[in-house]
Amino acid sequence: MDKEEKKKQSAEKAYEIVKKGLNRDTVLGIGTGSTTNYFIEILNQEKLDLKGAVCSSNASEKYLKKSNIEILSLNDVHKIDFYVDGADEFNSRKELIKGGGGALTREKILAHSSETFICIVDDSKYSDLLGNFPVPIEVIDLARSAISREVMKMGGRPVYRNNFVTDNGHQIIDVHNLDLNVPYETELTINKIPGVVENGIFSSRKADIILLATDSGIEEIKD
Ligand code: 5RP
Repeated sequence: MDKEEKKKQSAEKAYEIVKKGLNRDTVLGIGTGSTTNYFIEILNQEKLDLKGAVCSSNASEKYLKKSNIEILSLNDVHKIDFYVDGADEFNSRKELIKGGGGALTREKILAHSSETFICIVDDSKYSDLLGNFPVPIEVIDLARSAISREVMKMGGRPVYRNNFVTDNGHQIIDVHNLDLNVPYETELTINKIPGVVENGIFSSRKADIILLATDSGIEEIKD
C-alpha cells in the first residue's frame, strides 16, 4: 500500500471515531499537514451537526471553509473535544515530534486544550527513539542566533528554515542531533530559553490515541 493510501485510511479511521462521539455541542480541533488534509476532505464531504472547529493553521482553516462547519476561535470555546492531527515522528509512548509544516505552536495549544488528541500517521513515522526528524523551534526573530547557540550547547545542530514565516509571524530553526532519550526534559529545557515561542516535542501533552496505518490495516495505539 502506498503512503498516501495509508494516510487516507488513518484519516478515515479518525473520522469513524470522532463521528461516534459527536453531538451538537462538539468542538473539533483540526491540525495541519497532508494527513490532516485527508481528514478535512472527509469533513468537507459530510454534513455534520456540531458546534464548530478550531484550526491550527491558516491553511487548514482555508481548506475547511469548503465544509458547512463553523470556524471558531479557541478564545470562544471552553475546550476542544477531539483534536485530530498528524505528526512527523512518534514513539510507542505516544510522544511526538511535530512542526514539519511549521504550525507547531498552535498545534500544541490545541492539543493541550483538547480532551482527546487523535494522531493520524503512517508507519514511516515510527521511531523507537525520537530524533530522526529534527526538532522545529519557533523563535522570536531577534533571538534566533542566541537560541541557536544555546541548542548547540545541548549538542544540537540548528538549521535556519529559509524563506519561512509562521502564521504567528515568527521564524523557525530545525534542530538536528538533540538528545531525546527523555523527550519531556528536552521539551521543557528548550522552552526555558528566552525567545523560544514553542518547540515541536509533544511529550508534556502526548497523543491519546495514535491511528497507525500499516500494510495490514490500522493499528490503534492507546493506554
Ligand atoms: C505540521 C505538522 C504536521 O502534523 C506534520 O508535519 C505531519 O505532516 P504530514 O501529515 O504532511 O506528514 O506538525 O506543523
